[in-house]
Amino acid sequence: MRDGFIGVADRSSLARNSAIVRSVGAYEVAIFDVDNELFALENACPHQGGPLAEGSVERGIVTCPWHAWRFDVRTGYMTLGDFARVARFAIFVDEGRIWVGEEPIEE
Ligand code: FES
Repeated sequence: MRDGFIGVADRSSLARNSAIVRSVGAYEVAIFDVDNELFALENACPHQGGPLAEGSVERGIVTCPWHAWRFDVRTGYMTLGDFARVARFAIFVDEGRIWVGEEPIEE
């Protein structure tokens, strides 16, 4: 146990350039591997709640599977405008486990 973090999965369960979804407290979090780097966003598109983990990712940009809004997985910022943003979470790997912050990063 790490203060403020929850161990959510073994690192080996997340393949390169894929995504998994885990519950983190009250949140459903999409965890992305982008060329072996990990990022965590709330798995709910700010448009109508589309599951971002099911979107396609290209060069670190996830496209929502419902209506194609696009977000940078590194920042949560929408790429087509500045009126929407996805909450992001701190994430790290330790001893083969993926750890995600219990609350979104305040920005
Ligand atoms: S729910 Fe994501 S673009 Fe509409």
